[in-house]
Amino acid sequence: MSLTENQFLQRQGQFWDDISTKWSLANKNPVVGWYDSHNNFSYYQTHLFRGIPNLKSKTVLEVGCGPARNMILFRDWFAQFDGVDIAEGCIEKARVNLAAEGVPIPNLWVMDGRSLPMIGDASYDIVMMVISHQHITSRAVRMNLYREYVRVLKPGGYFVFQTGYGSGHPRSVDYFADTHNTEADFVDKDVRVENLDHLKADLETCGFEWLDAVLTDTCHDEHPQWAWVRVVKP
Ligand SMILES: C[S@@+](CC[C@H](N)C(=O)[O-])C[C@H]1O[C@@H](n2cnc3c(N)ncnc32)[C@H](O)[C@@H]1O
Repeated sequence: MSLTENQFLQRQGQFWDDISTKWSLANKNPVVGWYDSHNNFSYYQTHLFRGIPNLKSKTVLEVGCGPARNMILFRDWFAQFDGVDIAEGCIEKARVNLAAEGVPIPNLWVMDGRSLPMIGDASYDIVMMVISHQHITSRAVRMNLYREYVRVLKPGGYFVFQTGYGSGHPRSVDYFADTHNTEADFVDKDVRVENLDHLKADLETCGFEWLDAVLTDTCHDEHPQWAWVRVVKP
């Protein structure tokens, strides 16, 4: 079944909202998957923000922030760390998690899954995504998000993210699929990046300058590898 983009995003939001109802301070694994394993997976610390100078002075926006795991993990790294998520339930759990950890509540917004109208132009130094870019199985939606990131980033700002790489993920869809393709209509799937040049071309089309991507092993994922990508707004 092919879907309109609105239908796809509505289903995606519902899917993550449903999972968020299972998340609690006593069980932080729903939504994230393996909460403690991700926190202990060292590439988050070594690869995600690699090479970005003066992190302490930077403002960060995480897209797909879930229950604020990264705001807590990186609580001392940045000047400001805000978040947006497609699921209202995830944003509610983010507030609960931050409060329990004694982290001041930053700006948190629910978004439509493809745009950031609540954020002004040139607002952030860094936009980041981890274990969320790969869940956006529509290329058209991803491209729209990339254009929004260019808009909300300051000149010289970075978009850094992790995404699954390689073939063989049993629930993955082709890189070029969008919501009009039948295989993309089920939200509990991942995009399969098999050629970094495809990603590079799309990010450049949307206005970014490509820096690099580093491939590593994964944290509890069905993708063979993870790509840690860095691009910059000229
Ligand atoms: C596996 S969780 C990861 C949460 C968090 N990034 C972390 O590392 O702990 C994926 C998150 O992405 C969000 N998400 C999925 N598709 C999205 C979209 N199109 N726009 C914004 N958020 C989205 C989900 O609601 C969910 O909170």
